[in-house]
Amino acid sequence: MTSHSSRPLIVGLTGASGSIIARELIDALLERETPVVVVASNAARMVWQEELDESYNTAVARWTEHPGFSTYAITDLFAPIASGTFPTAGMIIAPASMNAVASLAHGLTPNLLLRAADVTIKENRRLTLIPRETPLHAIHLENLLTLSRLGATILPPEPPFYLKPLDIHGVVRFVVQRALVASGVTEGLPDDMQYHDRER
Ligand SMILES: Cc1cc2nc3c(=O)[nH]c(=O)nc-3n(C[C@H](O)[C@H](O)[C@H](O)COP(=O)(O)O)c2cc1C
Repeated sequence: MTSHSSRPLIVGLTGASGSIIARELIDALLERETPVVVVASNAARMVWQEELDESYNTAVARWTEHPGFSTYAITDLFAPIASGTFPTAGMIIAPASMNAVASLAHGLTPNLLLRAADVTIKENRRLTLIPRETPLHAIHLENLLTLSRLGATILPPEPPFYLKPLDIHGVVRFVVQRALVASGVTEGLPDDMQYHDRER
């Protein structure tokens, strides 16, 4: 554990496909007793309902039972995470819409999620993006490159084909574990995800 381990990690949810990744990620962080501050865009809430057949508010009610969980409205620009003076362990945007990627790459911060991400960049804290769109056009790629050059980790939710995942849960679990490593929550992947350790 690092001395920063008690700092909360911000998790931003945007309206790209892949709400299941956000759900599994937040569950995994809370299971690890990592404090999380969650902010969801309006589009993220819509996609959540569409893809997970539960309302986003139902998930929030479940997480709220955990003492390490807190959340702010997307409109709440007075929230602590809107300021660089509030110490955090960084931020994961999962999934990251191309709208969010474009806004961030151009320094646009009209809401709390984008402001918190912009603060994460300017304070040189870890920012991990799980962007989801396919195919990607040149503007998407340029925006992702801009963010990579600013130090963000670009972690597309790609299946680990070499691990032969049996279903989507195997893919999601892998992406979540990768995000935990990228954001410094864990030091390495579980043994069953380390290709070189697997029997072939
Ligand atoms: C069901 C659904 C799936 C979507 N999937 C994606 C996606 O995979 N990637 C993406 O960039 N936008 C996707 N969108 C569009 C975004 O939700 C839209 O651009 C929205 O304005 C993003 O807003 P936000 O960045 O504030 O969350 C999807 C929308 C819906 C309704």
